[in-house]
Amino acid sequence: MSLDIVILAAGQGTRMRSALPKVLHPVAGKSMLGHVIDTARQLSPRKIHVVIGHGAELVRERLAADDVDFVLQAEQLGTGHAVAQALPHIEADKVLILYGDVPLTQVETLSRLLEQASDTQLGLLTVNLADPTGYGRIIRDEAGIVQAIVEHKDASEAQRAIREGNTGILAVPGKRLGDWLGRLSNSNAQGEYYLTDVIAMAVADGLVVATETAQEEMEVLGANDRIQLAQLERYYQQRAARRLMTQGVTLLDPARFDLRGEVTVGRDVQIDINVILEGKVVIEDGVQIGPNCVIKDSTLRRGAIVKANSHLEGAELGEGADCGPFARLRPGAKLGAKAHVGNFVELKNAVLGEGAKAGHLSYLGDAEIGARTNIGAGTITCNYDGANKFKTVMGEDVFIGSNSSLVAPVTLGDGATTGAGSTVTQDVPAKALAVGRAKQRNIEGWKRPTKQ
Ligand code: UD1
Ligand code: CA
Repeated sequence: MSLDIVILAAGQGTRMRSALPKVLHPVAGKSMLGHVIDTARQLSPRKIHVVIGHGAELVRERLAADDVDFVLQAEQLGTGHAVAQALPHIEADKVLILYGDVPLTQVETLSRLLEQASDTQLGLLTVNLADPTGYGRIIRDEAGIVQAIVEHKDASEAQRAIREGNTGILAVPGKRLGDWLGRLSNSNAQGEYYLTDVIAMAVADGLVVATETAQEEMEVLGANDRIQLAQLERYYQQRAARRLMTQGVTLLDPARFDLRGEVTVGRDVQIDINVILEGKVVIEDGVQIGPNCVIKDSTLRRGAIVKANSHLEGAELGEGADCGPFARLRPGAKLGAKAHVGNFVELKNAVLGEGAKAGHLSYLGDAEIGARTNIGAGTITCNYDGANKFKTVMGEDVFIGSNSSLVAPVTLGDGATTGAGSTVTQDVPAKALAVGRAKQRNIEGWKRPTKQ
């Protein structure tokens, strides 16, 4: 059976008190709607329809994709009205309805729900709540068969005592949906066209409403304010931390670890506190990451070490290489096996060969540095003339004296040396010493100024 998914995302989200549309607020670095769309994709639908309203232009711009079709709901007249806007685009036998502000539902839960839906049956996801205030209540007959959903505001005292709440997530036969939505009325406490009224209509038409229950409440929690947003964030992070630990990672404190992207990990990886992983990160066996590091879109090969307070983006550390504390590796920074970058060293688009070292206080940009080359403290590649960038190339076993300025474009051959404090503006042949500094002169008997 084919599947169309409708994601409702038109609401304003007043309680966020934000200029940003609610569904664009991030959980783990990705918008809530982005999470829902990614989950939807895993169910291989024919099409994903996102109903937008508040902040429609921005939502469309941020989440445009080939398999996503945006439908505008100009006025928010209720969840039933919202789904109705997508109707003209729906063709599949089954329709699954999701919410742009309910980001963390598991694919497995939705798959189970979809198995319940057929031409003669609806699948309804419910949740048992300690405090069901605000939720639609699931009304069952004596035999336990679902009859209807009654919204909190429309419910009697007896109905409000029901703890089984509607998550809103629903799988319905596509062919019947148009008929039911067309018959909705807004004569209720909120004056809205309720999607939930479809349940009683389906029952009246002789269909069965089968239910699935979410295992954890957080899976179906929507974020209406920033407090709930933070709860979702923590839930996500706890899950991520647990998953990594089961894969063989030691987290010194799972409550002080944040994943804002995707990470693949090897075994015996150790991650100290307050580490943030962003984008796509690959961590191989035996890697150690010290406290307070931010690592984005980077690869750490087997046995690499990132020491405290380092910041990596678009970087690669080779086997057994190390950086930090306080290293800044910008895009294109690549350390060969056993290479070393120490404190207050910034690398951008710079490749260090095997065993090369830059121990202290340097800027190395647009540079190719050969194996075993040693860069003295304070060395700067002058790669930018204010208009264009140029490259610095060093061979193997080069020794750069401290505080050298290498004015690119410049090439230093294998085994070349620069004297400390040199400004190197010309190529240096292999094995030569370049001294590019004023010659020292001593003034004998020099009298220091005295205070007047
Ligand atoms: C809805 C359900 C309720 C359920 C609860 C779970 C209905 C009538 N009620 O109530 O049974 O327990 O969710 O959280 O469906 N939306 C639109 N367009 C609209 C109205 C809503 O896109 O015209 C979107 C909102 O942005 C939101 C979602 O639909 O993401 C739910 O709408 P909301 O008004 O919050 O429904 P609830 O009153 O919470
Ligand atoms: Ca709601």
